[in-house]
Amino acid sequence: MQFDKNKNVFVHRWYPFVEGYSKKFIEDILRELPFVPSCALEPFCGSGTTPVELQNHGIKCYSFEVSPFMHLLSTVKLSRKYNIDSFEYYVKAITKKLSHTNRNIRKLESLPFGDTVVKRNQNKKWNFHDASIDGILDIRHAIRTLVDNDDYKDLFTIALASIILQASNMFRNGKCLSYKKGWKTRIFSRKDIHNFFLDKLNSIFAEDIRIISKENPSVHNSEICYLGDVRKCIQKVPDGEIDLIITSPPYLNSRDYTDIYMLELKVLGLINSHEELRVLRKNTLRSHVQVSYENIIPIENERLKKSLYEMSKNEQKVWNSDIINMICGYFEDMQFLFSEFAKKMRKGGIIYFNVANSAYYGVEVPVDYIIADIAESCGFKVREIRKARDLKTSPQQSAKIGKLRESVIVIDY
Ligand SMILES: C[S@@+](CC[C@H](N)C(=O)[O-])C[C@H]1O[C@@H](n2cnc3c(N)ncnc32)[C@H](O)[C@@H]1O
Repeated sequence: MQFDKNKNVFVHRWYPFVEGYSKKFIEDILRELPFVPSCALEPFCGSGTTPVELQNHGIKCYSFEVSPFMHLLSTVKLSRKYNIDSFEYYVKAITKKLSHTNRNIRKLESLPFGDTVVKRNQNKKWNFHDASIDGILDIRHAIRTLVDNDDYKDLFTIALASIILQASNMFRNGKCLSYKKGWKTRIFSRKDIHNFFLDKLNSIFAEDIRIISKENPSVHNSEICYLGDVRKCIQKVPDGEIDLIITSPPYLNSRDYTDIYMLELKVLGLINSHEELRVLRKNTLRSHVQVSYENIIPIENERLKKSLYEMSKNEQKVWNSDIINMICGYFEDMQFLFSEFAKKMRKGGIIYFNVANSAYYGVEVPVDYIIADIAESCGFKVREIRKARDLKTSPQQSAKIGKLRESVIVIDY
C-alpha cells in the first residue's frame, strides 16, 4: 500500500508523499469491486492518489483537501492539460533567466515568513543557507514572471516544491522536520539549486509531459478537488450520488501535516503569517495537539470508554488533557463524517477506509474497531477489517505495547 511503490510511477513521482498510499492499492480495490463505480468520494485527498487513479479509470471523483500545498499538488496531477511544446518553451525561458541571476533577488521576491528561515544574528539554527534560499527565490521569480499560463505556473511550482527539502537544512523525521547531519557545513551554491530544479524538469517532468501530450484529453473526466475542511465542505457533494469511498484520514498519532510540510507551505507563499497557520491547523481533523480544544465529551462507544478508563488508571501523573481531547475530538469527527457519508452514498456502495491504531499512556486505542462501530451506528455494515501491516509504536509506548495494526476497513452501505 505504501507510497514508496509510487516513486517511479508516471505523474505520482512528481512529488514523493510518504503518508500517501500506492496507485496499486486503488487498482486492487477496483479489481475486487463487484460493480463499476460511477462516482467516488475521497475526503482526505493528500497527494491525490485516489482521484488521479480513478481518473485514469474514467471514474468521477469528488475530493477534498485542507492543505493548500497538498491541494495544489493534487490539482496539478489531475490537470493533464499539458503539452510538450509549451512545456519545453517555458523550460527554455526559465533556463535562460536562471543563467543571469539578480544580486538583489530579495528585493523582487520576499523571503518566506518566520524567524528561522534564514540565518539571523540570534539564531542557532536556520532552515536554509543564504545561497539556497536565494536560488529558490530565483526560481520562484522566473516562474512568476515568465510563465503566463496558470496550469503551467502550478506545474512548475510543484517542480520547485519537489526540490525544497533537498535544498534545505532539514529532513522529514516522522512527525516533524529535523536538521540534517552536518547541515552547517553542507552549503549548496545558487547554481546547485537551479540545477536541482532544471534536472527535475528535464528528466521526470519532461518524460511524463511527453506521454500526457499524446493522451486523448476526452478520456479524462473533469475532476473536482475542493480546497478546504471536508467537515465544512462535504455539503458540496450531491446526496445519494456516491457509490465508492476510498480514503486514508490522518491517523490518531499526533502528526500534524501542517508542520511536516511547513517548508513547502512557506516557500511557495501558501502560508504567510502565524494567523494563517493557526486557521489551517484549526481546520484539520483533530488528530494532533497543535490546537487546544475545550473539554470534549467522548462519543457513546464502549471500546473508546474502556481505552480512556485504562489510560486514566495508568498515567495519572503525566495526564495531558490535550491528548485526551484529541482522542475524543478525533472520534467525534469520524462520527460526523460517517453520518455525512450515509447521506452522500447510494445503497450498494462500498467504503475502503485505511487507518491505524494508536497508543497513549500504555494503552492501545483500537481505532479500526471504534471506527467500525461508528460506521455501523450510522447505518453501514462492516464487511471486514483487513490487516495491512504492523506499525512501530513510539519509543515511550514500545515497552508496554507491541506493534500497532494498520488496517483497511471494508464497509457496505
Ligand atoms: C493520510 S493523508 C492522505 C494521503 C492520500 N491517501 C495520498 O495517497 O496521498 C491525509 C490528508 O488529509 C488532509 N486533511 C487533514 N484534515 C483535513 C480536513 N479537515 N479536510 C480535508 N483534508 C484534511 C491532510 O492535509 C492530509 O493531506
